[in-house]
Amino acid sequence: MKEVAQEEQVFPPPEEFKRKAWVTDESVYDEAEDYQSFWEKRAEELVDWYQKWDQVLEKDPPYYKWFINGKLNISYNCLDRWIERGQGDKIAYLWEGEEGEAEEYTYRDLYREVNRFANVLKDRGVKKGDVVAIYLPMVPELPIAMLACARIGAPHTVVFAGFSAGSLRDRVIDAGAKHVITCDGYTRRGKMLDHKSKSDEAVDGLDVQCIVVKRGNNQVNMQEGRDFWWHELMEEAEEECEPQVMDAEDLLFLMYTSGTTGKPKGVMHTTGGYLVGVATTMKWVFDVKDDDVYWCTADIGWITGHSYIVYGPLALGVTSVMFEGTPDYPQPDRWWEIVEKYGVTILYTAPTAIRMCMKLGEQWVDKRDVSSLRLLGSVGEPINPEAWLWYHRVVGKGKCPIVDTWWMTETGMHIITPLPGITNLKPGSATRPFPGLKGEIRDAKGVVPQGQKGDLVISRPWPSMLRGLYNAHDKYVEEYWSKYGPERYFTGDGAIQDEDGYFWLLGRVGDVLNVAGHRLGTAEVESALVEHPAVAESAVVGIPHELKGQVPFAYVVLRKGYQGSDDLKKELIKHVSKVIGPTARPDDVLFVEDLPKTRSGKIMRRILKNIASGEQEIGDITTLKNPEIVDDIARKLRP
Ligand code: WT7
Repeated sequence: MKEVAQEEQVFPPPEEFKRKAWVTDESVYDEAEDYQSFWEKRAEELVDWYQKWDQVLEKDPPYYKWFINGKLNISYNCLDRWIERGQGDKIAYLWEGEEGEAEEYTYRDLYREVNRFANVLKDRGVKKGDVVAIYLPMVPELPIAMLACARIGAPHTVVFAGFSAGSLRDRVIDAGAKHVITCDGYTRRGKMLDHKSKSDEAVDGLDVQCIVVKRGNNQVNMQEGRDFWWHELMEEAEEECEPQVMDAEDLLFLMYTSGTTGKPKGVMHTTGGYLVGVATTMKWVFDVKDDDVYWCTADIGWITGHSYIVYGPLALGVTSVMFEGTPDYPQPDRWWEIVEKYGVTILYTAPTAIRMCMKLGEQWVDKRDVSSLRLLGSVGEPINPEAWLWYHRVVGKGKCPIVDTWWMTETGMHIITPLPGITNLKPGSATRPFPGLKGEIRDAKGVVPQGQKGDLVISRPWPSMLRGLYNAHDKYVEEYWSKYGPERYFTGDGAIQDEDGYFWLLGRVGDVLNVAGHRLGTAEVESALVEHPAVAESAVVGIPHELKGQVPFAYVVLRKGYQGSDDLKKELIKHVSKVIGPTARPDDVLFVEDLPKTRSGKIMRRILKNIASGEQEIGDITTLKNPEIVDDIARKLRP
């Protein structure tokens, strides 16, 4: 039976779910209108502080500080306090490797490893405020290293292991990191990846030391005086490390993300507000209870993993599954096998993965017992109603609410999201702002009427909001706080609000793509392309893709003496993949004579996007200085 998206279809919370949910009363939205006191209550309830704050919020738009003079340590909140409360033997992580290796970490185990690694870092000279770069796949050492950094007050910057050497190098330099934590290698779909060579290339010539986790057991080159084995350093480390008392506004981490320029920017998150935001949403949105087995399938290298694999779950003392592999290896039932094996009750994943599972076929889900599931989540891009309905029926067996959580690296926590014990769900809508938040759809003239498209703006501060962009004040103001002023955060997403006040997200506006839930600037891909000797100029646009949502499409003008060919196309695609990483790989490259430009020389990407996406309407070309090129390009693409 083909499922059709019916806009009218509404899914109220199942009675069974509602009966046990943490939040079941609509009045929370009204109470949270006094948002400062709302967040203050959450801070008292969910976080342990060494010293209480004197003031909840200090506004100096576009800068905002939360819990002024509050003192705390995040690793204490994630580890020590659970042991002190008698939960030391509870499992924190059920880790499963790609080849099926399994390890369990209780809160006490995790505490011990984190303390030892914190001492390793100290012994190596890392001090409060020193940025540490972490470049690891989904191994237990990744959250251990993050928490160890948090314990001693060293901000971390985790770089997704799939990123290229160049991406790591840029981040290490921008963050001024003197220490990189990496590994020898690891497997992906059974194939060994030589991770160490990538990190060696990244740190070549830099004043950096490396700590190397042994994961792949592959042959690597250890450079004397620069490279140290994790397990050797850990052998000598003391078991206890006092947590550093941190100010609420001390930097916790940097997370680099793509914007409108060629280079990613370091989003800054601080300690107190961030923890309050993620702990609150972890509890209210995922409705986690003591006996839940929670699984977020994201990679910790992205913000989703930071907030909802590491800090959120541990701050609530939750048991999580952490999985190193992919959904379809060795068989397309791998995820469902994991759900069955560990009795997963809450599953949080991305629309691109759901669409992939749909394509593989529901027989792979049906092969396994997934009846332990009680709540499903989605994040990363708008979920199409068809995928939503499939997820609900095939994975959730019609009994699990779906929380479609809209948020971004900069927000740190869920912003627009259902509360599963209250919200009547509409497939494809992220529903309403979390209590205490305010979303608006605006354009240059003000708030747009319901049912019309505009920019999504958040017009009230929240505790886990970004505090700035590292070393880039102007960029911070320009990207987020210029279009609608310093008190209205511009998200960069388009959206519509319907007659019930529900938000329907429409994807990014401007020159940013969302490829399988990963953000990518078109300018980044362009700057990678023009680094190639054959390329004179390029324009990259996003086009729709059945599984990944969007993919980059590249227009390339070649330098004199070069001929467009299939081989060159392949070479350019490979080149981008090497410079940035596989997610950035263009879906196709079209060699063109010239690009459509305005008289002032600005490339009209909108027109190129319409052509590449096969739109009927190409758009206004009257302002172009070379309108004839548009027909040439269109004919080249579709002869
Ligand atoms: C962009 C942020 C937040 C974690 C993953 C991505 C898109 C995210 C949704 C959703 C529609 C979504 C937005 C946003 N996005 N979640 N539920 N519905 N769109 O983090 O790399 O910072 O990207 O992802 O376009 O701006 P990110």
